[in-house]
Amino acid sequence: MTINQAVQAAARERAYAMPLADVDPCNVDYFEDDTVGHYFERLRREDPVHMAVHPLHGPYWSITRYQDIMSVDTNHQVFSSDWSLGGITITDEKMEEARLQMFIAMDPPKHDVQRKAVTGIVAPSNLANMEALIRERTIKVLESLPRGEAFDWVDKVSIELTTLMLATLFDFPLEDRRLLTHWSNVATSSKLVDPDAPTPEERLAELHKMLAYFTRLWNERVNAEPGHDLVSMLAHNPATRNMGPAEYMGNLVLLIVGGNDTTRNSMTGGLLAMSQNPGEWQKFRDKPELIPNMVSEIIRWQTPLAHMRRTATQDTELNGKTIKKGDKVVMWYLSGNRDDSAIANPEQFLIDRPQARQHLSFGFGIHRCVGNRLAEMQLRILWEEIHKRFPVIEVLAPPKRVRSTFVRGYSEMQVRIPV
Ligand code: HEM
Repeated sequence: MTINQAVQAAARERAYAMPLADVDPCNVDYFEDDTVGHYFERLRREDPVHMAVHPLHGPYWSITRYQDIMSVDTNHQVFSSDWSLGGITITDEKMEEARLQMFIAMDPPKHDVQRKAVTGIVAPSNLANMEALIRERTIKVLESLPRGEAFDWVDKVSIELTTLMLATLFDFPLEDRRLLTHWSNVATSSKLVDPDAPTPEERLAELHKMLAYFTRLWNERVNAEPGHDLVSMLAHNPATRNMGPAEYMGNLVLLIVGGNDTTRNSMTGGLLAMSQNPGEWQKFRDKPELIPNMVSEIIRWQTPLAHMRRTATQDTELNGKTIKKGDKVVMWYLSGNRDDSAIANPEQFLIDRPQARQHLSFGFGIHRCVGNRLAEMQLRILWEEIHKRFPVIEVLAPPKRVRSTFVRGYSEMQVRIPV
């Protein structure tokens, strides 16, 4: 038995031995050692709409089955995303000014008009225009990788490629692009779960630096001809051009985190899954035409955002439970993506899985991910270019996972490409 198998077996025993009422999947340790799946499995079987009281976040409902998650995600009238009620993550931000006013954390009608202001960036024609540039940059990054020696895939490939992409979307100075990575990390970090994270005050101060940088870009572009970048789109659209600084800051965080952490962690998680499943790597070598399907399977497998939270605006029933007005409701996408009543053999990673796009990783309903086609395109190009040049990539050690119950990701993964 490997160390990981022993860790998983012990966690499984613990998950089933504790009283059901004590099962609280929002435990950052379970995410860091990747054992949370056992708690989700028990909840899906025994109590799919489950109330737990978290020591920091208080009482909350865990929704763990695919169909129940769909019911919540597609009913925004009853399950609100509004930032003033608590927003979209399980953490209730205590500092009023640190509650991010972004359109993912708004309800209609404001959500709809702000979302519309940026969707042009991922229109099919725009994606087609971006494909050549993304491929060129991907090739450059892959060609620069060392051969025959260990290096960190997260830093050299996943972060580099997604940050370059983000800089393109914002028309952000390329030489400063790692600031985007930094702000993304700051925005998603929390002292509550990670002692190395900035304090709420430090976090807010960093986000104000981001706002100051982007305000310079806004001022340069607001009186110029409308461009095709996100800053110009926000500055010229009637729904967003009069936004105050708090909303500009919130929406910047949304677009930076949305376009950064998620795709980045799919790039790392995909290579990890492929290395753990040599039969799937062989299928990929033999049949590169499977790549688009494989990308969807990677995104399901990884589920880069483990949850989205809502707040009930009225008393309601869900799968036999009464949810009260004001209750915190957490949709665990990570669990829904492993629900065998919706997905056949969900514990297997299969690059030729039928209906691979049928997963919850991008959410559903009015907040469904704006960037889903762009993310898929980035990942497709990455794997097409890997296929052309690397018959083997060795993962040398288990990756380091980030301490978060929201972003499901990696901070380091050492790999080697044989000479
Ligand atoms: C919303 C996941 C890539 C921009 C979301 C949501 C999820 C998600 C779960 C919320 C859905 C809901 O509440 O129903 C992902 C994953 C990605 C990814 C897994 C990559 C694999 C991107 C990219 C961008 C982006 C590349 C930027 C261009 C957004 C925005 C929203 C969003 C702006 C808010 C939509 C709204 O509230 O209407 N994403 N995302 N995402 N995503 Fe993504």
